Amino acid sequence: MIAIRSCSGFDELEACVQLEIETWGYDPSDVLPRKAFILMQKIGGQVIGAFDTEIAGSGPESLVGFALSLPGMKRTEDGLRPYLHSHMLAVREGYQNRGFGTKLKLEQRKDALTRGIRHMEWTFDPLEIKNAYLNLHKLGAIARRYEVNFYGTSTSRLQSGLPTDRLVAEWELDSSRVVAALERRPAEARVIETRILVPASIYAWRASEAERERALTVQTENRSKFQAAFSRGLAVVGFTRNAEGNGVYELGPLIQSDANLEAKRK
Ligand SMILES: CC(C)(COP(=O)(O)OP(=O)(O)OC[C@H]1O[C@@H](n2cnc3c(N)ncnc32)[C@H](O)[C@@H]1OP(=O)(O)O)[C@@H](O)C(=O)NCCC(=O)NCCS
Repeated sequence: MIAIRSCSGFDELEACVQLEIETWGYDPSDVLPRKAFILMQKIGGQVIGAFDTEIAGSGPESLVGFALSLPGMKRTEDGLRPYLHSHMLAVREGYQNRGFGTKLKLEQRKDALTRGIRHMEWTFDPLEIKNAYLNLHKLGAIARRYEVNFYGTSTSRLQSGLPTDRLVAEWELDSSRVVAALERRPAEARVIETRILVPASIYAWRASEAERERALTVQTENRSKFQAAFSRGLAVVGFTRNAEGNGVYELGPLIQSDANLEAKRK
């Protein structure tokens, strides 16, 4: 049994830091310390954990996943809008692909809506096919911003020394699009103007020093394609995996169901 709940106390927050180090393999200069986790909770962010209740005690030692978010304020046409920026999501290897990452995101969403916050954002590496699938297909986020080398050089093992390019996922928590995705209803028919492919072998290329150059080539070429599409006003509105396991970003114009319900009513 996995329990999803807010983390509490120094030891549970320290367990998040240890899972952070285990997941990303950061060197100490890149690690977000426990102090930051404490502050996020105090100032309106979220530190939500996934706990394996079959591990004795179901306290800090049973933490197998966490999601961390920071509060933010965004200027919109209607004035300032509060939102949450989700900075980290991790599920321990051995517990992955069993829906716990999704459950952590759903808990973030539930908590945000309870507090009247209707928008969340986070960045993700566009070369990570699995993360794109989770963010765009399963959760229903869209993306229309591309950040080149967002964090500068990172010691993250997952980054393999490549520039830290990121797509910004925008999650309109109560839009029809997100509700449909979460209920696993088929997405509304829409125009797809262009597609951007990430080969399934990207993981192997990144991991191998001899082949890393190929991963860099994909990153550089895809960067130009995203930038060109976004400058034409298109957004990533879908993501699929083809029979070979390649990831395919689908880009087209945004439609009404992508918007927040409140915005729709206005
Ligand atoms: C990203 C992460 C948190 C996801 O957690 P998780 O518990 O595995 O996520 P879920 O099980 O809820 O969903 C994963 C989905 O991706 C699918 N998936 C797995 N491998 C995949 C791949 N190579 N390509 C595409 N999809 C894949 C799974 O089948 C699952 O979809 P399904 O439920 O439709 O079958 C976890 O993989 C992780 O900790 N990764 C390392 C850190 C990271 O990258 N964090 C996110 C960026 S901040």
